Formats: sequence, structure tokens, C-alpha cells
Amino acid sequence: MQARLDRFLSKHLSLQRKAIKPLLASGRVQVDGVVVSDADRIVTQFNHIVVDDAVLQQHVARYLMLNKPAGVVSATKDAKHKTVIDLIEEDQTADLHIAGRLDFNSTGLLLLTNDGRWSRQLSLPENNIRKRYRVTLEKPLTEDYVQAFSAGMYFEFENITTRPVELTILTEHSAEVVLCEGRYHQIKRMFGRFNNEVLTLHRTAIGDLSLDNALSLGESRPLRGGEVRLLANQGINNVF
Ligand code: URA
Repeated sequence: MQARLDRFLSKHLSLQRKAIKPLLASGRVQVDGVVVSDADRIVTQFNHIVVDDAVLQQHVARYLMLNKPAGVVSATKDAKHKTVIDLIEEDQTADLHIAGRLDFNSTGLLLLTNDGRWSRQLSLPENNIRKRYRVTLEKPLTEDYVQAFSAGMYFEFENITTRPVELTILTEHSAEVVLCEGRYHQIKRMFGRFNNEVLTLHRTAIGDLSLDNALSLGESRPLRGGEVRLLANQGINNVF
């Protein structure tokens, strides 16, 4: 939400717009603890807005990282399974949504927020936010995979060719994969071309933000201010 302060006040106080100017001039309106008299001031859903002693809005932006365990759905509601929201403390969950899902059996870094503008930035293809994964595989890897992942693969169902994917072989059965898009089951489908089943898939980083090693599976913590800005400022510089 973004609105001019006079529109916001007029709506929330059910007053005509002409009554708002004197109200603002009287010094009775505060935005984030500061008296504001400017009717054109733009406010968002995260500003704390008070008139006299009445709090009209007190939404705070929340950003969390979760170390997602396997067997939990990346959704806010599910009829059958436990969801990632069930793992977050109840007083933190209002209006949260997921910024970049992980499959049911995938683990690792999952971001949750109530700030739609921030999460949209993370998902915009032109922002090229890189997601880093550790995978283990049923069959041995060869250099052919590196070449095929880098060249891109055509997915008939969506009629797209995947963007270049960085694959680094770590051991015979494990690799690091870096993607800058997130097609449906993308990593599993790419290894599927080699008939090689992904046994485990763990996300270790989104952009420059790494999963906090202090978080065990199922644990979460709020992002620090610097971490929120780190991702908000990423984008066009991140092209492969
Ligand atoms: N690719 C997959 O196949 N699964 C995930 O959870 C993430 C990327």
C-alpha cells in the first residue's frame, strides 16, 4: 500500500478531504513518531500513523529466514501437511508470505516476509538473484553435466530454455548448483535428463545472503537490517 497522507487520513477517519488540512496544520498527526503537516507525504503500510492518541496503523515490516526441514510444505496453509508457517512463532506469522518456495523434501534457506514489494524484487527475472544449492545424487556425476547445465535445457511443457546454470562437482555424488531463476522442480528436472535422481537438495544462499549456520533445521530468526538491504539492493549487478 502506498498513499498520500491526506487520502489515508480521510479514509481512516471518515472525514472529507477539506477537513484534513486543518487537522494536519494543528500538529495532531504523527508519522513514525514525528509530527507531519504535509498532505502530500507518501505513506506505506509500514508507517506508524497516530492522530492524537489513536493509532490508525501500526504495521511493521517483518523479514525472517528459516532453515526449512524436509517434509514441510512451502505454503501458508495446507489441508494435509505441516507448513513452514507452523514452524514460526505465532506472534510473528500475521500476513507472512514466502519469498521463493522450496519443494516438500528440499531443505535450507527460505525467506518469509509481509513486505510484498521486497519479495517481488527477489523474484523479478531481470534482477538475476542467484540461488545456491547443495545436492546429492543417486548416480555419479560427469563433466557432461557441467556443459549441459551451462548450455541450458529446453523444457517442452513451459516452452522455455533454462538460463545458464553453474554446476560445480564436489564429489562423485554431490554438487553445488547456482540458478538465477526458479522453474518448477528445476534442479530435479535438469538432473532428470541424465536419469539421475536428486536424493537431497539444500538451499544455502539467496543472492549474497547465506543461511545462518547457527539455525538448525526448523529454526528461524529475523533478518538483520543489513541483510534486508543486502537483498533489496541486489539485482542488475548479479548477471552471470
Ligand atoms: N529445484 C528443485 O527441483 N527443487 C527445489 O526445491 C528448488 C529448486
